[in-house]
Amino acid sequence: MSPASTPLQSSAVISEAVETLRNGGLVAFPTETVYGLGADAKNPEAIQKIFATKGRPANHPLIVHIAAPEQFDVPQVDWVSLLAPWARDIPEDALKLINTFWPGPLTLVFKKDKSVLSALTGGQDTVAIRAPAHPIAQALLRKFKGGVVAPSANRFGKVSPTSAADVRNEFEGMLDLMILEGGDCEVGIESTIIDFSSGDEAVLLRPGVITPKEIMAKTGVHVSLPGELHLQDKENPEGVNLPRVSGSLKAHYAPTTPLRLYAPARALDALSEYPDIKSRVAVAVWDSESSLVLEDHPSTDVSEIIVSSDPASFASKLYRTLRDLDQQGWDLVLFPEPPPGEEWDGVRDRLQRACFGSGPSSNSHDSN
Ligand code: TXA
Ligand code: MG
Repeated sequence: MSPASTPLQSSAVISEAVETLRNGGLVAFPTETVYGLGADAKNPEAIQKIFATKGRPANHPLIVHIAAPEQFDVPQVDWVSLLAPWARDIPEDALKLINTFWPGPLTLVFKKDKSVLSALTGGQDTVAIRAPAHPIAQALLRKFKGGVVAPSANRFGKVSPTSAADVRNEFEGMLDLMILEGGDCEVGIESTIIDFSSGDEAVLLRPGVITPKEIMAKTGVHVSLPGELHLQDKENPEGVNLPRVSGSLKAHYAPTTPLRLYAPARALDALSEYPDIKSRVAVAVWDSESSLVLEDHPSTDVSEIIVSSDPASFASKLYRTLRDLDQQGWDLVLFPEPPPGEEWDGVRDRLQRACFGSGPSSNSHDSN
C-alpha cells in the first residue's frame, strides 16, 4: 500500500491509541484486509469488552496481531523468539510461510503458550497469530510492543468493515470508541487462516486472497483443505468443526437485504423466481459481460451494478458493495456465482455465507 494513498495518522494519534490500549480500552484500526477492533491481548477485561461490544459468543477465539520487525528485509528474523510469548511447536513449514507472506493477510494457528489467556482462545489450546501489513496497524503494534487481539470491527455475524466510516456505523452509540483512519482496505476480505497446531500438517481453515496454490508455488508447502482431512467424521458429517472459526458458521458476513446468487447468464431466471412486480432488484453483472438486457423483464424495477471479473479487485470491493447496497433500499440483490477456481474460493465462501444469513431477520438467526 503506498503511503500516498493512505492518510497516515500522526504519531501523536498513534501514541494516544497506544495509551488507550494500555489502559484497557478498545481501538479500531485499519488492516490491509478489514478494520479490526483491537484490545491488549494480555488484559482479560479488555478482551471481555471486545466480546461484549461485538456481541460475540465467548467460545469464538480471537486473532493476536503482532508487529513485524522493522528490519524486515534482513533475512535472519528470529520468528521463533518473536512468537515464543504466544505459540510453541512452530514447524519449519510455518516459518517458510511466515518468511514469505508476513507482514500480510495470512493468519497461522499454533499450540498456545501457557501464558496466553484462555478467554482469548475461546478455551482452546491453540492460538491464531498474524502480522498485518497496513502501515497504521504496524505503527500501532510497534509502539504498543505487545500483542493486540483484533476481530473484524463489526457486530457479530455482520459484514466486516473496510473503512473507518463503516466502523463508525457499526458501533454508532459507542461515542468513546477510538477509530484510526486508514482509508479503504486494499484486500477487502479477511485473512487466510492456516492451522499448524496438529504438527507438520497445514490445514486451510478460512480461504482468503493467499491461496494454497500460491503457497505451494512460493514455499513448496502443501496446504490441505478441511475436506481432505479427518474433520469429516461421523458425528460431524459436514466437516464443520465449530466454533473454531466463527467465519465458518453458515450465516456470517450477512447483509440485511436478501441476497441470492445466479448461475452464469441466468439472471433473468433468478428474477422470475421473485415475481413481485413492485420489487426493486439490484443485479450485479461481470464487467467482462455485455449488458443483460434486463429491461426486457417487465415485472420488476431492476438496476445493474458492474462488478470486477478479477478476483482480487472483486474481493477488495465486496463488503463495500454489500454495505452500500444495504443502504439503498433494494428488495433483493442478485450476484453472479463466482467461477470455479481456487483464486475465487475466498470470495465464494463470503458470498455464500452472506446469502445464507441475509435478510431482515438475520439479526435473530441461530448462528448470530
Ligand atoms: O483479516 C483478518 O483476519 C481480520 C483483521 C482485523 O485482522 N480479523 C478477523 O478476525 O477476521 P475475526 O475475529 O473476525 O475472525 C478470526 C477468525 C475467527 O473465525 C476465529 O474463530 C478464528 O479466526 N480463530 C481464532 N483463533 C483460532 C484458533 N485458535 N483456532 C482456529 N480458529 C481460530
Ligand atoms: Mg469477523
